Parts: sequence; structure tokens; C-alpha cells
Amino acid sequence: MTQRYILGLLGALAAATLLLACATRTAPPVTPAVAPVSPTATAAITASSNVTTTASPANTVWQTLPQQMIDGVAFRHYATVNRTDGTYRQMFIDEATLSTWTPGQPLPVESFLVMETYYSPQVESTNFTKAMSIDGFHYGSFSPSRPSFTTQPDNSCAACHGRAEDAAGTFTLAMLTAARQTGAVATTLCDQGGRTPCTAEVYREFVELLEGEK
Ligand code: HEC
Repeated sequence: MTQRYILGLLGALAAATLLLACATRTAPPVTPAVAPVSPTATAAITASSNVTTTASPANTVWQTLPQQMIDGVAFRHYATVNRTDGTYRQMFIDEATLSTWTPGQPLPVESFLVMETYYSPQVESTNFTKAMSIDGFHYGSFSPSRPSFTTQPDNSCAACHGRAEDAAGTFTLAMLTAARQTGAVATTLCDQGGRTPCTAEVYREFVELLEGEK
């Protein structure tokens, strides 16, 4: 309930931001990472900075995605994959990459992705990570109370991710693209349990987060 409320609030702030940006025909450049007091406060900071700056609106829509700080680094929530067994996973990408990445291009070196896993609502389990390196993705994991950006080559991770052939190893790439372009978290429902990969279509069919279950 609280999370839904906060999301609603963020959505309202985001909508107000967009309206303001459109009305003045201006929009912000990349907002530098600000250490937030809370997600809501961060949204407010981003919202107020939007009306005083001049970059192209098309490049800044992503700023309405919910921000999350992980060990002092700003991330944005871009996707949620719900599964029919009740588990779900939330994907995040570092803000520095999101602000500069062009959809359709490969994820650049130093891109950092985090996946929160939930086996029951609101109970966060292990976070899985991957970072793009010059020799491909390196993988890692951490428990929510101890964030870590350490990654290394891992064949067991890579083997399964290789099944996302059409998305260069990143199952949720189409969702990332959609979120980058719409500013809304992409969510989808997969009829497989656990982390069995869904069909490629599942990762291309999504609705806005506020219409989802969480
Ligand atoms: C059995 C297949 C499988 C294995 C093994 C696996 N993953 Fe994944 N991973 C997935 C699927 C499928 C997704 C997309 C989310 C979903 O469908 O729940 C995903 C998503 C991710 C994401 C979000 C970005 C993306 O690629 O979409 C990260 C980060 C990630 N996995 C890290 C890891 C790490 C680290 C390991 C090894 C410790 C690992 N994965 C092993 C199947 C796998």
C-alpha cells in the first residue's frame, strides 16, 4: 500500500514535471547524482531542476523513472518481471549509463545492471548484478544489506543469458529501451516459474507499472 502510494506520488511529480517542461518548451540536461534523503525527495529535486534547464525533452524522459541509490550510486528502476508463481524481479540500471545510452546501440562498457529478487511481496532477496566490460558481461551478486559492485566473468550466468541471443544477453533489453523512451517502468508477466527464461515476446509485452500488481 505504501509502495503504491509512493509510486503514485512519483507518478504525479513526474507528470507535473513533464507538463512544466512542455509548457516552457525546456527540459533538463542530465541531472547529476544527488544523494537523496528519500526517493520522494529525490523526485522533488529532479522535478524542480527540470524547469530551469535547456536540454532536449526527448533525452530526458527517463528521468521520471524511480530513482534508487545503491551504495551512493544513482540507479533507475526500468523493469519488473512478474511470474505466475508469485515471485518477481525488479531491474535497475545506473543513471550515468541510462542518461547517455542510445537505444539500439549496445550497452556501453561500464554499464551496470542490478536485479532485485522477491520470492514474496516486499521481501527482498539476493540482488544479482552484471557489468559490461571490454570482454563482455561480468556478473556478481550481493545481499540487500551489503551492496557490492564487484563482478567477474561467470560461465554459469553467461550460459543462460546467452539464450537472450536477440538481446545480446540481456533478457530485459526491450524493456530497458521502452523505459528509456517512455519514462515508465516496463512490467511484464511470465508464465514460467523461478528464473526460467520466458519467451522473447514476454520481454516485449509490457504495461506501465501503475497498472501492475505492485
Ligand atoms: C537459468 C537461466 C539464468 C541464469 C543461470 C542466470 N540468469 Fe540472470 N536472468 C535470467 C532471466 C530469465 C532474466 C530476466 C528476468 C526474468 O525473466 O525473471 C535475468 C535477468 C538478469 C539480470 C537483469 C538484466 C537482464 O539481463 O535482463 C541480471 C543483472 C542478472 N540476470 C544477473 C545474473 C547473474 C549474476 C547470474 C549468475 C549468478 C544469472 N543472472 C544467472 C536468467 C538467468
